[in-house]
Amino acid sequence: MRYRPLGNSGIQASVIGLGTWVTGGSPIWGEDPDDKESIRAIDAALDAGITLIDTAPIYGIGRSEEVVGRAIKGKRDQVVLATKCGLRWDDASGTFMGHMYGKDVYRNTRPDSIKFEIEQSLQRLDTTHIDLYQVHWPTVDHMTMPVTDTMATLMKLKDQGKIRSIGVSNVSVCELDQNLKSGDVIADQARYSILSQKQEQAVINECREKHIAFLAYQPLEQGLLTGKITRETKFADDDIRNNADWNPWFQPSVRDQVIDVLDAWDELTTKYDCTLAQLVLAWTVEQPGVTHALVGARNVQQAEANARGGEVILGDHDIDRMTADAKKLHALV
Ligand SMILES: NC(=O)c1ccc[n+]([C@@H]2O[C@H](COP(=O)([O-])OP(=O)(O)OC[C@H]3O[C@@H](n4cnc5c(N)ncnc54)[C@H](OP(=O)(O)O)[C@@H]3O)[C@@H](O)[C@H]2O)c1
Repeated sequence: MRYRPLGNSGIQASVIGLGTWVTGGSPIWGEDPDDKESIRAIDAALDAGITLIDTAPIYGIGRSEEVVGRAIKGKRDQVVLATKCGLRWDDASGTFMGHMYGKDVYRNTRPDSIKFEIEQSLQRLDTTHIDLYQVHWPTVDHMTMPVTDTMATLMKLKDQGKIRSIGVSNVSVCELDQNLKSGDVIADQARYSILSQKQEQAVINECREKHIAFLAYQPLEQGLLTGKITRETKFADDDIRNNADWNPWFQPSVRDQVIDVLDAWDELTTKYDCTLAQLVLAWTVEQPGVTHALVGARNVQQAEANARGGEVILGDHDIDRMTADAKKLHALV
């Protein structure tokens, strides 16, 4: 495993981080996970050198944080623990965002809400502090939720030792800069994969210039880039992978062309003696400015396999070839 700094925080974290959205379970996310297996998967990830674990209160309405808390008990010092704030299902005073887990969910980055959320997260994670505390989605209501107030609250939590560093997620360049003006933001988390990359390039460039860690989420496109999804694979009606707005790559005509490209990378997986997922993860963390990749795993096998993606080092020529192949697909969506 390789380790890189989280911005200028002084915290080093494994280039492959374990994402725990799937750990929270959801009807939109395939089979319900088995908590005991999720704990074994987290254990296996730590044994394989992963230190960065990313969760959020919204993942399973507290379930992901609770499972992570149980898994890291007695091993807290091995973990760079990242969680988030800003999405509430238990308070309707924010800005309506959508319907998740059978609840109405609201964006809320007001100080009183963050102060409430941090205590809830510390309790569920059974810890005294969070290493990276991230604002899950930026505010859309600058009048009642000014970024300056949000950042001032996070800075205070840092002074109090409840969090060690501050991150943002899903921000534009302009939003990132606004946050940076009023807080010590050291990381940004956003969707990025070899398929979904063009939207984030400007933000990555900004992060790189300002020495901010960029954590790529969904680097395996929810399993599509592991090779296990075939042209014929069908998902339950409410599975998120049928949602063309969130994940257009699963649509049959697009998926066909993605799989053609993945098939052609067989010679690369043979050359590097790795799986397709490991090849894709190795490509991801080699992109300039992309410092870490957050990968979900629902079992031990996936967690161990993904960790190895942090050890595969690709030659420049092969990175360029993968980039060029993927570029041909970008026009499809
Ligand atoms: N900040 C945000 O708004 C945001 C949004 C999304 C995600 N994230 C973070 O990013 C993390 C990663 O994203 P993600 O979990 O959505 O997507 P992902 O990492 O692209 O995909 C995870 C899924 O891929 C499959 N998979 C993973 N490793 C595999 C392997 N080695 N072999 C075969 N299949 C494998 C599993 O699918 P099956 O379940 O079908 O087995 C797993 O659930 C999340 O867990 C979360 O921490 C953040």
